[in-house]
Amino acid sequence: MDRIRIVGGAKLHGTIPVSGAKNAALPLMIASLLTPETLTLENVPRLSDVRMLKRILGNHGVDITVAGKRLGDREDDGETVKLTAGSIVDTVAPYELVSQMRASFWVVAPLLARMGEAKVSLPGGCAIGTRPVDLLLMALEKLGAEIEIEGGYVLARAPKGLKGGEIDFAKVTVGGTHTALMAAVLAHGTSIIRNAAREPEVGDLARCLVKMGAKISGIDTSVLEVTGVGSLKGAHHRVLPDRIEAGTYAFATAMAGGDVTLTDVQPHLLQSALDRLSDAGATVTTTENSIRVSRNGNGLAAVNIETEAFPGFPTDLQAQFMALMTKAQGTSRITETIFENRFMHVSELARFGAKIRLDGDTAIVEGMPVLKGAPVMATDLRASVSLVIAALAAEGETMINRVYHLDRGFEQLESKLQRCGAEVERIRG
Ligand code: EPZ
Repeated sequence: MDRIRIVGGAKLHGTIPVSGAKNAALPLMIASLLTPETLTLENVPRLSDVRMLKRILGNHGVDITVAGKRLGDREDDGETVKLTAGSIVDTVAPYELVSQMRASFWVVAPLLARMGEAKVSLPGGCAIGTRPVDLLLMALEKLGAEIEIEGGYVLARAPKGLKGGEIDFAKVTVGGTHTALMAAVLAHGTSIIRNAAREPEVGDLARCLVKMGAKISGIDTSVLEVTGVGSLKGAHHRVLPDRIEAGTYAFATAMAGGDVTLTDVQPHLLQSALDRLSDAGATVTTTENSIRVSRNGNGLAAVNIETEAFPGFPTDLQAQFMALMTKAQGTSRITETIFENRFMHVSELARFGAKIRLDGDTAIVEGMPVLKGAPVMATDLRASVSLVIAALAAEGETMINRVYHLDRGFEQLESKLQRCGAEVERIRG
């Protein structure tokens, strides 16, 4: 199993190009099931989650090709992936595949919308707490689906097709909103989705669906209105930049010190995190598509955060911010409101000498002047990268084990950091 070795202490200087967003690419790829025509996605990140989803979609009959290099292509661009679901040969998504990646459960919506049936394994728990699918199933039922759960599988049926309905989410859910959108676009009549997630990745899916011929209004708001159409067509869409990757490198720069410019980003999608980073004492300046972060000499201030649905502070940056706060002057409170158990990184950060105490949904972090490198283990992917951030500012060597979690969500992590002067290497084996 690969490991990552980091020797802390180097300041970061340079430019980091931000990849396409994993959490936009996955639902966009799944949307290819909605049409027999080709959906071409540009800037798809090269990640193991994307590779896994290609396998899952291939199993349903989607032909997938990756375009070769073209003149004028930018070196750091992601892949151009063409997905064609000419005919769907299998409406079953088996346990072996779905259990490895929760997002693959979302295939239930396009399979049901296009084929009138789907049998998809329940995704099961994961390292960040139980993550039920009750709201996703409720949304499908509101659109007329009959749902049964049998032997760990969700059996969804709509033999006469889905019909428009009103969906009121009791809780903001990204996957629930993706599911509702992908089901409603091919339903008969109009659907209203209330308390919809406003995460930019939901907006990206909605915009792509519109290019495919869907009728959606209210994009980027919490009320979406979808008027179903008889069929969708192929389209061309560029995946949104990864705001979580951008935030991660912004925090890493503040942690290590130095001056880094992140390119190919949309800073306004990351405003709450950048504001907290400024509060912590980093200098943050933005243009329309870049973020420059620097910290030279001055220490970090303790800042409290609470995770929230967009546009609040993202849960997917909570672990990374906690790593940053382990070296701040003073005590910070980090409250996780989205997931019930997203604190797996606390015990690993403690190996660097960090002082963190848990009190229910809040971690109380007492900043330390010095962290020391240690052997640590990655748990989920955001937790893993929080260890990278701590390691960059720790004295001596850190060895991060189980890095396959990092490969699920961070493209070329080592080379992006190396280019900025970090001492980081992957040890294969
Ligand atoms: C998406 O997960 C992301 N995954 C997560 O990123 C992200 O943390 C999360 O949204 C919140 O922003 C992808 O996009 C692939 P939710 P999702 O449905 O859709 C509860 C990462 O690291 N809930 O918005 O699964 C749920 O338990 C990953 O890239 C129900 O109760 O999250 C949670 O408490 C991790 N019933 C809350 O809602 C349901 O039916 C929000 O979950 C569905 C969700």
